[in-house]
Amino acid sequence: MSSFDLNDVKAIYSNDSTGMLESLAGLPRQCMVSCLQLPQNVDVKNGDKIKNIVVAGIGGSAIGGDLLRVYTAGKIKIPVVVSRDYSLPAFVGPETLLFAVSYSGNTEETLSAVEQGRKMGANIVVITSGGKLMEMALSQDYPLVRVPQGFSPRAATGFLFIPTLRVLEKAGFLENITPKIEVVQETLKCLHEKLRPESPVQENPAKQLALKLYCKIPVIWGVAGTSEVVAQRWKGQINENAKAPAYWNVFPELNHNEIVGFKSGPDLLKNIQVVILRDEEDHPRVQQRIEITKRIINPAVSGITEVSTAGKEELARLFSLIYSGDYTSVYLSMLYGVDPGPVEVIESLKKELARVQ
Ligand code: PA5
Repeated sequence: MSSFDLNDVKAIYSNDSTGMLESLAGLPRQCMVSCLQLPQNVDVKNGDKIKNIVVAGIGGSAIGGDLLRVYTAGKIKIPVVVSRDYSLPAFVGPETLLFAVSYSGNTEETLSAVEQGRKMGANIVVITSGGKLMEMALSQDYPLVRVPQGFSPRAATGFLFIPTLRVLEKAGFLENITPKIEVVQETLKCLHEKLRPESPVQENPAKQLALKLYCKIPVIWGVAGTSEVVAQRWKGQINENAKAPAYWNVFPELNHNEIVGFKSGPDLLKNIQVVILRDEEDHPRVQQRIEITKRIINPAVSGITEVSTAGKEELARLFSLIYSGDYTSVYLSMLYGVDPGPVEVIESLKKELARVQ
């Protein structure tokens, strides 16, 4: 049992030095503002010549790329690839729309990828709050979406992701996305009432789940093509906010390997708390797979919790799961007695790398 009381609203806010909870409360508005305020000059020349889309970014700046990949998969006829690396895939060229996304604008992998994209003749659109990437965009005259400073990259998902949708809308790949973002905003506003710190444990599913995950190893399972990106997001948020381990996988892939691993080491397995992310539109066979899988692993693990999407529209449903995971990870950080905001290990690793250049 943690000594932290999740009903102590004052203690929750005072343990959040960087205002992660404030950013979460602002996410519905962040999504709407990012949708409405795309700068005029952010456009893709020769939109009809674009044959592939690449999002170059890493960590909190890359997850929007995965959201874009999953969301557009059934809607646009060209591939969307997320590149979390120093180099870009060899297919990149003048027919590529390259989103260069780095919240800080100083992430070396992303800067290297953009430089490579320039040499390969890609059509580059920059999304950043500043740094060297902003300088690069200004000097090369790349279309630039400037996002507000003062956020953690992972708390700026709306700012980093929504503009990619708007650019695809402007280029003729997507239909008007504004009504969809309005649904996202409404859905998140409703959820906020349930998930916010002022909502007590008995009524707050994120607080309840954080209590289940405390001192357990969270294993988050999503579904290919829908909640897979959210499972990855939950894992990252638990790592970065709660400073705790977490792992993720997707159906149906995990039915072909991971479920075999629930036999040996029973004492170890008793520490695993599985979270299954569910959506009404998951493939019917996948829904059956989930039921059977639960029966297989149930005797081995500490517990299984299902979290279902809310909202009437695909994007809103994805965001609803993201929101639940974000809040759960912040409450988990409180239970562990850590501040959700600072990610000192990432910062010190970046500094060490800079020294050995
Ligand atoms: O959440 C974080 O702080 C990290 O995952 C960063 O997003 C990652 O290190 C990349 O930095 P940036 O988002 O500034 O490009």
